[in-house]
Amino acid sequence: MPPAPTRTTVGIVGGGPAGLMLSHLLARDGIESVVVDLRTRHEIEETHRAGILEQDSIRLLVDTGVSDRVLTDGYRHEGIELAFGGAGHRIDFEGLVDASVQLYPQTDVFIDLANARERDGGDVRFGVTDVSVVDVTGDSPGLLFTDAGGVAHEVRCDYLVGSDGSRSICRQAFPEAQRRQYFREYPFAWFGILCEAPPSAPELIYNHSDRGFALISQRTDTLQRMYFQCAVDEDVDAWSDDRIWEELQSRVGANGYTLKEGPITSKTVLPFRSFVQEPMRHGNLLLAGDAAHTVPPTGAKGLNLALADVRVLAEELERAITKDDGALLDDYTTRALGRVWKAQHFSYWMTTMLHLAPDASPFDVRRQIGELSMVVSSTAGSTYLAEAYTGWPVP
Ligand code: DHB
Repeated sequence: MPPAPTRTTVGIVGGGPAGLMLSHLLARDGIESVVVDLRTRHEIEETHRAGILEQDSIRLLVDTGVSDRVLTDGYRHEGIELAFGGAGHRIDFEGLVDASVQLYPQTDVFIDLANARERDGGDVRFGVTDVSVVDVTGDSPGLLFTDAGGVAHEVRCDYLVGSDGSRSICRQAFPEAQRRQYFREYPFAWFGILCEAPPSAPELIYNHSDRGFALISQRTDTLQRMYFQCAVDEDVDAWSDDRIWEELQSRVGANGYTLKEGPITSKTVLPFRSFVQEPMRHGNLLLAGDAAHTVPPTGAKGLNLALADVRVLAEELERAITKDDGALLDDYTTRALGRVWKAQHFSYWMTTMLHLAPDASPFDVRRQIGELSMVVSSTAGSTYLAEAYTGWPVP
């Protein structure tokens, strides 16, 4: 027996930060939604992602009543170090653009949002299977899934949103003839670790070296996050703790830093890719976050872009639903993509300025040093970096 269809206003595929934040913002406007995710809540909580929140992302969490934890448990960073050519150079965000960022991991953003949805009685189903979207160009698109208890559901909606990450199933519902996809691959990846040690520096160090890029980030007073550039097909098992520390120390040592070492509790390889799909709307299906665009991790724009998307999308959906006029959503792609392409450029720029391409010539490496020297010695250069890093205002 097929399930009897139920109704909601917005069906959301993907219960990561983008989907949960959208559901939260819609609920504040009195708009009902159902969120589904293939992953269990525990699986999402165990996935380590980036840790830097732009000013507007922080405000969105605090001002809409998700949680204040980003302010109490996060760490305010008023600048970063750009390390190259034998020394570190500070980019002073406060001094340059009167802004800062907050070090607060994506996992905690997810936990805050999941708790807030639970607190407010939101309908969020984790650990579902067999998710599909149907009739996306019709008046009553459908969200089909089987819940964690094995019961099949059909939810009919006014609008569907795909916030289901870079392997989005919702993106597949866009006919090929009506979408354009833009890609860039990179010939390297990041090896990411978590380690039990005190912080090695008060702020993040973006470190250029002849052996490749390294990023020294933090989590808490006793847990640190670090990354180093590696091969796309790097074998995690080939890296003992000793070998990792030797590699990291050698890269940052070239610029005068020494890391505080400790037991490594997590080792993963992170892929690098730039991707954008245009448009972000097909009929009554809209995409948000990684489902529509991916950036390489340098500069930590992924989560911030996803939050900026759903902030715009919640506004647009509220107008379209209140005025019962779907044409009002035509603006969404244009408003979201303006920021997306700026972030694509920023992430690409930071990546190519700091990483060592496998075929880099001595000219290429010296040219990078020239570029980095320009950034740190010019107010215009460092202001661009500071402005992009702390985030552009939402249009
Ligand atoms: C982190 C990740 C990033 O990609 C970045 O640019 C800065 C910080 C992090 O995980 O802490």
